[in-house]
Amino acid sequence: MDSKLAASAVGRRGPRWWQTGVVYEIYPRSFADSNGDGVGDLAGITARLDYLAWLGIDAIWIAPFYPSPMADFGYDVANYTDVDPIFGSLADFDALLGGAHARGIRVLIDYVPNHTSDQHPWFRESRASRDNPRRNWYYWRDAKPDGELPNNWISMFAGPAWEWDEATGQFYLHTFLKEQPDLNWRNSDARAAMFDAARFWLDRGVDGFRIDVAPMVMKDPELRDNPPNPDWDGTHRLGTWGMQLHDNDHAHPDMHPLYRDFRRLLESYDGDRVSIGELHHPDFDRWAAYYGEEQDEIHIPFNFHLTHAPWTADGIRRAIEGVQGVLPPGAYANWVLGNHDQPRFASPHRGGRDQARVALLLLLTLRGNPTLYYGEEIGMVDVPVATEDSHDPLERREPGRGRDPERSPMQWDASPNAGFCPPHVSPWLPIARDAAEVNVAAQGEDPDSLLTLTRRLLKLRREHPILLGGEFEALGPTPDGIYAFRRTAGHGRVTVALNLTGQPRTLPAAGDGRVLIGTHRDRDGSDATGDLELRPNEAVVIEEPAAG
Ligand code: NOJ
Repeated sequence: MDSKLAASAVGRRGPRWWQTGVVYEIYPRSFADSNGDGVGDLAGITARLDYLAWLGIDAIWIAPFYPSPMADFGYDVANYTDVDPIFGSLADFDALLGGAHARGIRVLIDYVPNHTSDQHPWFRESRASRDNPRRNWYYWRDAKPDGELPNNWISMFAGPAWEWDEATGQFYLHTFLKEQPDLNWRNSDARAAMFDAARFWLDRGVDGFRIDVAPMVMKDPELRDNPPNPDWDGTHRLGTWGMQLHDNDHAHPDMHPLYRDFRRLLESYDGDRVSIGELHHPDFDRWAAYYGEEQDEIHIPFNFHLTHAPWTADGIRRAIEGVQGVLPPGAYANWVLGNHDQPRFASPHRGGRDQARVALLLLLTLRGNPTLYYGEEIGMVDVPVATEDSHDPLERREPGRGRDPERSPMQWDASPNAGFCPPHVSPWLPIARDAAEVNVAAQGEDPDSLLTLTRRLLKLRREHPILLGGEFEALGPTPDGIYAFRRTAGHGRVTVALNLTGQPRTLPAAGDGRVLIGTHRDRDGSDATGDLELRPNEAVVIEEPAAG
């Protein structure tokens, strides 16, 4: 292991790297195109490692780059142990990994256990005949006597979760597209093959995995029907998937021993390798269960409570304090504002540009492990794509749910195509109209930019022991529109106060101290005494002198 990484993995007291480290998500199609085909690739990421080191993140998570027919842009894997030519080669991956490690950046990759591509050789064999040795690697079921589907499960991407296979006369299960058949993790050979795939990358040196739809892998062994959702009113963030309560098609308790085994696999390697699990449970307790009773399951259960919370003081209070309230002893939470499936935070229909500084200050001062989505640091917004032009199959199946807008190319500079790909090339998705102003090159030189603020926040949290490892303490009640909390360690106290509104607000008796950093640079280093006046969309971090 590189000595920079080794130093942060062992030999120091306090949180482990993954408990407080900042993970930066890269959607590889959209980050940097090195070969001029309009699609980002691994060599493009390697060429931008200096930027990531300069920014000051701890790890990158790269969304899938495996060989794939790209029905779901790589979340339909046709080979778990190679690189799709559109992204490069295994040699490109090794170069990226080596370059990242040399800069002290860890590399996490996506692990897609719930389903493969229908073009994966395992599935091709499985569907070849009913007595193929791999038949039970997937879920095959007869039609009911009346010809009906085996059960009432629906696809998260709309429509039934079963597809009829004419040749063998049975249905197969697909929680997502029909091109993404679900793997049967109760089959020990399939499971062993997936563990081998993980070993392949761990042996190569990756620092861990982001586990795609982690709760999906274990379903009710009898595949019983889901009950209807009594609250269904025709609208749901996940479209028609909201019609049912998903009691039986995911999150069976058998997941827990599986993730304990997976953690044991990670921990059989040196270097503090980890798993981050994608989990969307709205219920706080169910979410926290993924840490494991002995905190021996998923290292970092992804926490989307902030992502889905209404962006109001009350909304984020409920999200933050709900999460903090269920954390197992000593555990740290993960925090996320957005990702490749969610609207970008700075978009007007989410928090908006005015609140972007407040949101990043919050993300980077909460206790735990924040995940930044590429472009969040410069305030990228969703770029609309009409349904008829959409690449994301979800948009065509359920208009309005498409994820192309949050996957637009990274805005590096003011050149045509924003420096993502050469000027004469068509990028795979449209570049944001504001890219000439909103880009890394312009903001990197501007002391008042969002990028500069992000970088300074990242530096501060690395260097400030209270921000890194201090406890979380709720503060309240606070006046309407303000959310505030404390971080504490020993006698030290840091107060974080956020104005979630576009009007001035006052936080009475906020404490006496010095502003360590704020969304508005003119306040940095100033004294804060008594009542704290916050300007519209302003947030500050105040350090109180250590008592006693
Ligand atoms: C979650 C991923 O984040 C999303 O992009 C993908 O479509 C589904 N899982 C299916 O793999």
